[in-house]
Amino acid sequence: MAERVEIFEVGPRDGLQNEARRIATRDKIALVDCLSGAGFTRIEVASFVSPKWVPQMADSGAVLRGIKRAAGVRYAALTPNLRGLTDALESGADEVAIFGSASEGFSRANINATIEESLQRFAPVMETANAEGIRVRGYVSCVVECPYDGPVAPARVAQVAEWLWDMGCYEISLGDTIGRGRPEPVEAMLRAVSDVVPVAHLAGHFHDTNGRALENVEAALGCGLRVFDAAVGGLGGCPYAPGAAGNVATESLHDRLVTLGYDTGLDRDVLESAADMARAMRGAGR
Ligand code: HMG
Ligand code: MG
Repeated sequence: MAERVEIFEVGPRDGLQNEARRIATRDKIALVDCLSGAGFTRIEVASFVSPKWVPQMADSGAVLRGIKRAAGVRYAALTPNLRGLTDALESGADEVAIFGSASEGFSRANINATIEESLQRFAPVMETANAEGIRVRGYVSCVVECPYDGPVAPARVAQVAEWLWDMGCYEISLGDTIGRGRPEPVEAMLRAVSDVVPVAHLAGHFHDTNGRALENVEAALGCGLRVFDAAVGGLGGCPYAPGAAGNVATESLHDRLVTLGYDTGLDRDVLESAADMARAMRGAGR
């Protein structure tokens, strides 16, 4: 039997957060409902951040409350602080994610905190989530390069990943936020991180700015990673990472994984329908 590689769908959150045109809540819900039929076990649908910082995510509570929940799917949300966690739990998020950075420049630009301050903010989020029995995922951004500080040392990425792991995150997602990664630096970074966090608990999060996300996924597969974040239709970008383009497209990643002999458990036809919806949402604004 083919080995399973999991795709964690992040389109409704990472994909849509950067869209300048306000997308209707019902369209976001329709996208998630479509994705719920594709076979994902995890879909990131919301982000409980400041609406002044990311206006597109301001209706996250309504999205989470409006979706039709499919059995076996965990619906996830970003929570930068305790307020975000409280709102996410009230809206029915099944799991949450805290998001830090391996570079100081991006940490300040994205969450208005130094790396150290961000960890202090995350501690009560983790404590409350633990008390509520909610799993917390940890993101590390700028694992290869930062739009403000330039190249990021693998040892620095490993240090931040280890902090999030020690804090209790069940999985660490490693973000090539601006898509500057190439296989060799990605492998060097992954070697450093897997010295401190078990590889079975690492995920790859590749943006495709330079068209090399699939090559980087292959490099990461070679390093033992079996979970990858992706967004249908290649939606995406981060408002605080100038030049960051879409996440690797879920349907392209699925196809590449199948060609390489892996099984994703996903329904290709449903992915195509979701990708069409996603592209229409993006296209309508341009
Ligand atoms: P701040 O200004 O330092 O914090 O922002 P604050 O505590 O002073 O709050 C400022 C205002 O935000 C206040 O409102 C708060 O009430 C409000 P005001 O008094 O001005 O009216 N506020 C909130 N509102 C709603 N929900 C909340 C919340 N917290 C405070 N949870 C903060 C700090 C973290 C809030 C801000 O910097 C922020 O929201 N940043 C989010 C940026 C973001 O979402 N970026 C994109 C996601 S990360 C990403 O895409 C990367 C990833 O995909 C991986 C990769 O690709 O690398 C994950
Ligand atoms: Mg991202």
